[in-house]
Amino acid sequence: MTERMQIMRIGVVGYGHLGHYLVDRIQREGAKLGLTLVFVWNRNADKLRGKVAQELILHNLSDFVDRGADVIVEVCHPKVVKDFGVQFLSKAHFLVGSPSALSDPHLNQQLRQAAEHHGRTLYVPSGALWGGQDIQRLNDSGALKALFIRMSKHPSCFRLTGDVPSDCTENRGRRVLFNGSVAELCPIAPNNVNTMAAAAMAAGSLGFSGVRGEIVSDTALSDYHVVEVEVTGANGFSVHTVRRNPAKLGAVTGSATYNSFWSSLQVCKGHGGRVYLC
Ligand SMILES: NC(=O)c1ccc[n+]([C@@H]2O[C@H](COP(=O)([O-])OP(=O)(O)OC[C@H]3O[C@@H](n4cnc5c(N)ncnc54)[C@H](OP(=O)(O)O)[C@@H]3O)[C@@H](O)[C@H]2O)c1
Repeated sequence: MTERMQIMRIGVVGYGHLGHYLVDRIQREGAKLGLTLVFVWNRNADKLRGKVAQELILHNLSDFVDRGADVIVEVCHPKVVKDFGVQFLSKAHFLVGSPSALSDPHLNQQLRQAAEHHGRTLYVPSGALWGGQDIQRLNDSGALKALFIRMSKHPSCFRLTGDVPSDCTENRGRRVLFNGSVAELCPIAPNNVNTMAAAAMAAGSLGFSGVRGEIVSDTALSDYHVVEVEVTGANGFSVHTVRRNPAKLGAVTGSATYNSFWSSLQVCKGHGGRVYLC
């Protein structure tokens, strides 16, 4: 007997680099994987004209309910996670593409509670994080003692706000821009530290204030970003990974991360009312 494929109805919120990529792939390959697009929303709807079928364009994000999505994918801005995350989870599973938003402890708590209450899954894509599920398993066993992530990129790849001086990224050579907790880092570099935010979600016992992060500007890195993860467990256990993520000059997102998002989306079939790293 052949098993009938479960069709997942997908809503995409944001049509920047990632949104465009995901919408295209769902339209090209979704049918054979059981994914169908039910809406696309972008702050500036003009960008969608001629690229997305008229009937799929959602003009007012509050009307997402009418489209009956099973999974809503946010790929735009942490503000949308804050403003709509709880509403999304009341109706659908939610893949949060800007997990740096979860560094806000209040929002983090609200989203976890909404997921639990409605029996929907809050999915956190692993993005450029290598070994996220291993970190989560170590965390769940109670043996995770420390976690450190260093992200090194060409200065043109940083989008910094807040307390880092703007000339900081212009110097030649290698320079540490910030070293501290991921909780402190997220508001300073919200578009650059989603990988660290995913790690902080996997390492729930340490949380955003317990996971340490470092961002490094390095003019030698014109072809790739480097993501290093150092995990410390009990009784001398440790793991150190170094990931080289090919990226064009000026690109915030490494090219392998697009594929990683696509794989993450395919995992979103419902894992109960909880947070799930995918
Ligand atoms: N989890 C990860 O590993 C990972 C990796 C890469 C990126 N990201 C995150 O995913 C998101 C999208 O990345 P991207 O590379 O696609 O970015 P992008 O190409 O710069 O596109 C940004 C998108 O967000 C929208 N946007 C910007 N500010 C907004 C606001 N205040 N309210 C509503 N919409 C807003 C833009 O709308 P307009 O067209 O109207 O300007 C556009 O659709 C970002 O938050 C980024 O940090 C996460």
